[in-house]
Amino acid sequence: MTDEPIPLLDLTLQYRALARTLLPQVEALLASGRYIGGEAVRQFEELFSQFLGGGDLETVSCNSGTDALVLALRALGIQPGDEVITTAFSFFASAEAIDLVGARPVFVDVDPCTFNLDPQLLERSISPRTKAIISVHLFGQAANMTQILAIAQRHGLAVVEDCAQAIGACWGGKPVGTWGDIGCFSFFPTKNLGAAGDGGAVVTRDPQLARKVRILKDHGQVGQYHHEYIGLNSRLDALQAVILSVKLPYLREWNWRRQAIAEGYHRLLQGIPGLILPQVAKGGNSVWHQYTVRVPGSHPTDSRRRDRLQRQLQKRGIASRVYYPTPLHLQPVYRKLGYKPGDLPNAELCAAQVLSLPCFPELTLQQQERVALAIAEILAEEP
Ligand SMILES: Cc1ncc(COP(=O)(O)O)c(C=O)c1O
Repeated sequence: MTDEPIPLLDLTLQYRALARTLLPQVEALLASGRYIGGEAVRQFEELFSQFLGGGDLETVSCNSGTDALVLALRALGIQPGDEVITTAFSFFASAEAIDLVGARPVFVDVDPCTFNLDPQLLERSISPRTKAIISVHLFGQAANMTQILAIAQRHGLAVVEDCAQAIGACWGGKPVGTWGDIGCFSFFPTKNLGAAGDGGAVVTRDPQLARKVRILKDHGQVGQYHHEYIGLNSRLDALQAVILSVKLPYLREWNWRRQAIAEGYHRLLQGIPGLILPQVAKGGNSVWHQYTVRVPGSHPTDSRRRDRLQRQLQKRGIASRVYYPTPLHLQPVYRKLGYKPGDLPNAELCAAQVLSLPCFPELTLQQQERVALAIAEILAEEP
């Protein structure tokens, strides 16, 4: 058994495998002198729409997943005075985008088995000011879009899907991002489809929304130097579009690898006392952006056992990460909203108990066995 460190993720392996295909394309783009917009960006948008099923789906690329969410909310007309419901357990951008358009986030608790928003709790958070729901597909797992859409339709609410972590995941056999009014994607380097820098995209079947996003991402320009809105400068660089177009054909295979890795962890970690494995809800699947276990302590928000496990893994050269140590409703910036500890207990429990293990397509079975053995030994040696 080797004692080589095991990283949470190693992007250099993917680069090395693709370098021979990637570099001539990057060089051709650099030689073209066309660095903003143009054919490379158009082509990626087309390929991305096809990846998600094609048809009347339109992709509008932009600078990041955060911008994708902001552009989606702006295109839907969300404004100050409006409320937007989202999960209390996600990366900050899922809520930040709501504030960036001047609206107020309203947080809903999660199902601690899947880490996704619990649709049973959604309806009671709807007020006369609610205009939209941002449904996040966390850690790669599709949220229950059937229930979320049914509630949204009953109350006339728009649905934005935050698919930053779940490119290629499906609910009911249909890709996430194609269920709601708009799907938002991130191509941050560590995502399942990652650029060599920032990138993002919005997808929609509504041509009016697509047109509005295109205008908003380009300074609100309707014709050249004719501005009808205050917009953003939010472009996907042509260089990133080239890189993403080279990588996209591999994404399904990478996602299958992640699914095989998750199955491997399930098998290797099953039955270890005091460890809770992630579950996938019936009706959907996961592309395992993260493989996240829970390590409960002596009470629901006691993080000491989890933190000890992480420290001990680190001592053995095994990386792990806490995504996310503080739920959104308890972030310092949201004190203004008046939430208190205990308000959204499952999100708080997740924040105290979660630990994401190394998970990336190139991770080997031997490395997984080392991770699993280390976890079993560390938990067996607990004081
Ligand atoms: C769930 C979620 N939403 C939104 C974002 C924002 O994406 P970006 O970093 O591309 O702005 C991220 C990732 O970073 C994310 O994980």
